[in-house]
Amino acid sequence: MIEQESEVIFNKKVADGTFLMGLRSYEISSGAKPGQFVMLRVRQSFDPLLRRPFSICGTREDDIFLILYRLVGRGTTILSHVGEGTKLSVTGPLGKGFDIPKPGRKSLLIAGGIGIAPLIFLARKIKMIDLIFMAGYGSLKEVIDLESAGLKVPDIRIATDDGTLGHKGLVTDLLESYMTMSGNEMFKVFSCGPLHMLKRIAAITINSGAECQVSLEASMACGLGACQSCAVKSSSDQGMVYYHVCRDGPVFPAKSIDWKSI
Ligand SMILES: Cc1cc2nc3c(=O)[nH]c(=O)nc-3n(C[C@H](O)[C@H](O)[C@H](O)COP(=O)(O)OP(=O)(O)OC[C@H]3O[C@@H](n4cnc5c(N)ncnc54)[C@H](O)[C@@H]3O)c2cc1C
Ligand code: FES
Repeated sequence: MIEQESEVIFNKKVADGTFLMGLRSYEISSGAKPGQFVMLRVRQSFDPLLRRPFSICGTREDDIFLILYRLVGRGTTILSHVGEGTKLSVTGPLGKGFDIPKPGRKSLLIAGGIGIAPLIFLARKIKMIDLIFMAGYGSLKEVIDLESAGLKVPDIRIATDDGTLGHKGLVTDLLESYMTMSGNEMFKVFSCGPLHMLKRIAAITINSGAECQVSLEASMACGLGACQSCAVKSSSDQGMVYYHVCRDGPVFPAKSIDWKSI
């Protein structure tokens, strides 16, 4: 894990309320694995005091790493105004990422909204023939064009709540129809998005026996396993009862989480 001042290379709007930022750090980019995250100070002062967590969305040219972020509150609004050349304090890469799937088996990447960020990075490590990318949004204006993050995926399936693009309904509907059509084909699911979506995906995959890894979000103060703010209950009644999302995750096998408690 590195703490350093990283130069902002670009910070551009890519969809309604969504920005892609590139930061220069050879140490972070060269060590980053899909699913890991950074804790970023959103400007050069200590206001706001706490760093904000963002998934690493990709790397470029050996020494640039990308974050894709959605405007939520004060910190992300400040971040959206940061100009090229500004140096921001970053710690990372943090946490445990996704297990990279072996070739020859279908991988279903299922994103809800900005949960697409770590899955864009994961998609780069999977052969396109093995990859199906499913992404759910509220509406067309929120849809993130994967090519803006430098990714071309032949099989991308979109769902929007209001039907303005792709399937009208939930992204989990796409997973259920895939499972109905695919019969006994073996596949693995990787998912990140809002909690209610992850709960549904966990229920579907645990019930069917499909392997599934999810990237969880939790409020994080330190990002290092020191403050307890990110604790989630494990499904195990032995061994570790609570996980720290920042240190033990953010990626977990879906079956290892006590979904009823969160
Ligand atoms: C491991 C991890 C990875 C993450 N990766 C990304 C990423 O790649 N891109 C990205 O855009 N965001 C990501 N997030 C979420 C991001 O950290 C928060 O959106 C951000 O910290 C909000 O900061 P803020 O100062 O703008 O909002 P705050 O002022 O902190 O919060 C403003 C309001 O938004 C609510 N809020 C705060 N965080 C969230 C949240 N995560 N989801 C929904 N509502 C929230 C608060 O309850 C509050 O009402 C990640 C979070 C974690 C834990
Ligand atoms: S954020 Fe402090 S322990 Fe996880």
